[in-house]
Amino acid sequence: MNTAATKTGLNMLRTMDLESYFHPFTDLSAHRDSGPHVISSGDGVRIVDTEGKVFIDGMAGLWCMNLGYGRPEMVEAISAQAQKLSYYHSFASMGSDVSISLAARLSEIAPVPGSRILFGNSGSDANDTNLKLVRLYNTLLGRPNKRKVIVRRRAYHGSSMATAAASGLPTLHSAFDLPIGEYRRISPACYYWRGNASLSETDYTASLLQELEALIVNEGPDTIAAFLAEPVSGAGGVLVPPPGYWEGVQRLLAKYDILLILDEVITGFGRTGRMFAAETFNIRPDLMSVAKGLTSGYVPMSASFVSPEIWNTLSNADSGLGVFGHGYTYSGHPLAAAAAHASLDIMLDEGLADEAARKGAHLLSALTEEILPLTPVGDVRGIGLMVGVELAADWIGSRGPSRQSPVSRVAQRCREEGLIIRPLMDGNVLAISPPLVISHDDLDQLVAILKRAIESLST
Ligand SMILES: Cc1ncc(COP(=O)(O)O)c(C=O)c1O
Repeated sequence: MNTAATKTGLNMLRTMDLESYFHPFTDLSAHRDSGPHVISSGDGVRIVDTEGKVFIDGMAGLWCMNLGYGRPEMVEAISAQAQKLSYYHSFASMGSDVSISLAARLSEIAPVPGSRILFGNSGSDANDTNLKLVRLYNTLLGRPNKRKVIVRRRAYHGSSMATAAASGLPTLHSAFDLPIGEYRRISPACYYWRGNASLSETDYTASLLQELEALIVNEGPDTIAAFLAEPVSGAGGVLVPPPGYWEGVQRLLAKYDILLILDEVITGFGRTGRMFAAETFNIRPDLMSVAKGLTSGYVPMSASFVSPEIWNTLSNADSGLGVFGHGYTYSGHPLAAAAAHASLDIMLDEGLADEAARKGAHLLSALTEEILPLTPVGDVRGIGLMVGVELAADWIGSRGPSRQSPVSRVAQRCREEGLIIRPLMDGNVLAISPPLVISHDDLDQLVAILKRAIESLST
């Protein structure tokens, strides 16, 4: 295509977008002026926009393209499955060979061996399913008052009605008038956010656990059904819990007979350096939600992992349940299942969880050396290839109000230099979560671009 024709094509795309596209998580009125930034191809860790500009995708899309873009094995697996059986459902005891064998494979590697796998299409619906399963379980056990769910401020669990309500980010709540009723909130877990600077890490952990126990006791353990949490909060600020936190939380949940729903939508499939963050932190969830890395983002798919104890209650003939009235048209979609099989094959063949641990350590030490000393930077933290850079609130405060937040300016500057990282909602944190296949050279380039972008804030 010649340049004029390309330009006409781009203008048409922009017009079509402005006239017809409703972008999620977007400032809708600002978008009317800015228009879209359109990506048209991807290869490895790089994506290319319609202007031909190339970017390192430092966010793996939305924390999901763990294998990078355009892997031939993925394309072949999806295409072969589309020819063989492009769709079949799993209602009423029906199923497809490829989704059943995937469930068996996931059950085998699950943090709780023998878990049952219920498929969905998104992280939101996996969490929604798990929240519903908790209600069903307690109803069947004759405990209809055990309904409340403890969640953490700054959590992100999705944007369906139930999961947005469970989340703890102001942008998700403002103006939507969500049904918040049964959620009870506690503090997030991140040592940098301890408030009291003189608190040791051990005392900080103890204070978080005291807060959790006090809430349980005040509300009444008989009214609390579950604790829903990400092992490491992603969108809320890349919040890595202090040592002893997960041990202590699980001790309290066991003491008061409260279920744990672990939201591994970001952390599942290698991102924290093990297959699941449950392994990284030694967590035994009753229910677990995964999505993103399950298919490495190639086809939408999520899964709820259900412990044998809960499954036995639901499936016991004496429970009186009859038909389990929940599921989706696309639960266990064959194309997604084929993508998940291929993605797992590649992950295991290439040892990508170990790679995430190794490369994450390299990235964190480069950031600590190069970025942390910069005046605007307050903290650098992460685990595996899930990393956050937080600008210091004092420094931001000293600059006075500005139209664009400092983290958005840094992200914008990085984009100009060919790097995509994400300014997180409602805070001062930039997230970095590249494909697990990224090279050390690309990580070094990422750090160099980010350093220049942060330095430019002071000029
Ligand atoms: C921890 C966590 N849970 C749930 C979700 C929701 O997933 P989805 O956007 O696929 O509904 C996300 C999305 O980023 C997430 O980060």
